Amino acid sequence: MADTGLIFACFGCCCGHTNNGAARIVRPATRRAFDAAGLQGRVRFAFSECLGPCSEANVVFVYLHQRALWFKRVNTLDLFEKLLAYVRTAVDAPGAPLPEELAARSFSWTGGGLGPAPA
Ligand code: FES
Repeated sequence: MADTGLIFACFGCCCGHTNNGAARIVRPATRRAFDAAGLQGRVRFAFSECLGPCSEANVVFVYLHQRALWFKRVNTLDLFEKLLAYVRTAVDAPGAPLPEELAARSFSWTGGGLGPAPA
């Protein structure tokens, strides 16, 4: 069965490192969180190089049901786990509303410019 969606957690020049004000992202813990989320075989997860919108670091890109979702400042494992919980719901319920905490971090980006303006 093909994956329904994918998640890219950026680990590029500005994400996951503390040099540009972003929180440090610990890759093994992030991977373990994904593995524990029970999404294997339905959603693919990978770390990526720079995804483009660097202005708000610790970017996570979710592609689900032909819909692109961008999240900024996913700075804690707790937030990433909340994102995984949302994806687990949305896999079976396309268009499920984002929880408030994730909605506050979502943004639109179509590939131009530097990304969202910092709050
Ligand atoms: S380094 Fe993450 S979006 Fe550029």
